[in-house]
Amino acid sequence: RTVYVNGEFLPEDQAHVSIFDRGFLMADGVYEVVSVLDGKLLDFAGHMARLERSLAELQIPNPLSAEEYLAIHRDLVARNEITDGLVYLQVTRGNPGDRDFAYPSADTPQTVVMFTQSKPGLADAPAARTGWKVISVEDLRWHRRDIKTVQLLYPSMAKMEAKARGVDDAWLVEDGKVTEGTSNNAYIVKDGKIITRQLSQDILHGITRAAVLRFAREAQMQVEERSFTIEEAQSADEAFVTSASAFVMPVVEVDGQPVGTGQVGQVATRLREIYLEESR
Ligand code: PDD
Repeated sequence: RTVYVNGEFLPEDQAHVSIFDRGFLMADGVYEVVSVLDGKLLDFAGHMARLERSLAELQIPNPLSAEEYLAIHRDLVARNEITDGLVYLQVTRGNPGDRDFAYPSADTPQTVVMFTQSKPGLADAPAARTGWKVISVEDLRWHRRDIKTVQLLYPSMAKMEAKARGVDDAWLVEDGKVTEGTSNNAYIVKDGKIITRQLSQDILHGITRAAVLRFAREAQMQVEERSFTIEEAQSADEAFVTSASAFVMPVVEVDGQPVGTGQVGQVATRLREIYLEESR
């Protein structure tokens, strides 16, 4: 695989980052994941806008322009012959040369790393036909989840808890309400209405969420942005999650209880079709 690091395209085993990099020592960095379908980048502009925002919130200067990021994305997709898959992008505060809690001086170069992952048949994931089972776990993450930082240990722990319990993912719950999935936004459908948590610092502002809600409204579906409980999810007609890598993924079971009929729902299926059609 050819990867990108700080201005260079290199074979992955020749790409290096300092052990003093703030991303490595302090999780002081942000990332984006852009899906590739038929060689095309999905929702690229949205991901770049969020990258810009995440960096600004952390006062990390953005080292490249959206045009430069786009050129590198395209270059990596071509060099690695990616038809379906994703491009991962990470920007960290860089290498101050020592470990220190205070940020280094503003002229410290940021570290930019990008690589591809090939996922043939990404849009036809068999899971989309059977749906995911999820469990709920307490949301113990920090309180700036709107910033897409590389600090992913808690979501990782929650994912492992889900795996240990034989299901696909975990929904994170705070003050009795679902915030989001480990790496996706969460939704329920009740009486034809799509319900998903309102945007705030409590959740990541999903790029797929924005697109899916826009398509839903355009298709005259009702959307309500508010938080919901696990009990509401269990008595909903349908549930699903969205993310750049899962698109729209139906959820058929929450904490061992079937959602609706326990089968993949019509609304989720339709939104998945619309999303894949419109964004390709
Ligand atoms: N995760 N919420 C969280 C906590 C996420 O990590 C993600 C994305 C989302 C969905 O955002 P988007 O639709 O912009 O992908 C919501 C990516 C895919 C990841 O970590 O791999």
